[in-house]
Amino acid sequence: MLSRLNGLALLAGMTALSAICSTSAYAAGDPSTGDPVMGQKKFYTCVGCHGIENYKNAYPDYDVPRLRHQHSAYIISALREYKSGERPHATMHAQASSLSDQDMADIAAYLQGGDPIKPSTKVVGKVPAQAAACGACHGENGLGVDAPMNPKPPVLAGQHVDYLKQALTTYHNGRRKNVVMDGMAQLLKTDEDIKIVAEYFASQPSALVTAKTTSK
Ligand code: HEC
Ligand code: HEC
Repeated sequence: MLSRLNGLALLAGMTALSAICSTSAYAAGDPSTGDPVMGQKKFYTCVGCHGIENYKNAYPDYDVPRLRHQHSAYIISALREYKSGERPHATMHAQASSLSDQDMADIAAYLQGGDPIKPSTKVVGKVPAQAAACGACHGENGLGVDAPMNPKPPVLAGQHVDYLKQALTTYHNGRRKNVVMDGMAQLLKTDEDIKIVAEYFASQPSALVTAKTTSK
């Protein structure tokens, strides 16, 4: 029963995967044009929240996401979506609205900080059945996969557990829209399933950390 479920989940993952692999060209700006030195300066207005360990979003309460070493292409696409309002969040909409495409590329280059996080096959503990379909894009351990993908799946390993829960809940209830993730989130049937995958990915070792401007 369980293996049949895994098979179905994997199939769903692969179908969604081929959908995003076949889209061409960056819709979200070219991350390679970012200047990390400028980016660090421009990130100054963001440290009040993203530079403080365990800083919380209020109502609902959840940790502000970790950004340091997240993929630059994903940072840019997230900022674009906040700016356009496609991804609803009042504070981040206000923050992103004041940024130009160049600002976003600079900040993303600073946050990624050199080479992107590399995929690996190391898994701490056991991959829960509920996370079987996620590996196709996020890697079994949330560190990503080698295949180039657009949109770029974010690193999940080492992210705050309650932020991951919040993200999955909002994909699930349709508040946060994404062609791929809205379908994937439906594979998680209950709040318990969401909790299990969030705890699993958050617990995997990763370079993803809070973006204190002094950290490397
Ligand atoms: C007042 C606090 C606050 C400030 C200031 C702030 N952010 Fe955020 N940021 C948040 C919160 C809360 C979220 C999660 C929102 C959500 O649930 O979508 C977030 C989410 C993000 C994300 C999405 C991360 C992901 O994993 O999807 C990015 C990227 C981001 N912020 C970048 C920035 C940048 C760049 C700045 C400065 C220009 C900034 N933020 C300023 C609170 C803040
Ligand atoms: C076909 C590829 C694919 C599969 C399979 C997939 N994802 Fe995603 N995931 C993505 C992409 C692309 C994004 C970025 C979407 C966006 O910009 O909102 C994403 C975003 C996310 C985010 C938001 C992270 C953040 O920083 O805001 C979470 C959490 C997540 N996925 C969890 C999962 C889980 C759990 C599964 C398995 C049930 C899964 N994903 C399966 C491609 C995938």
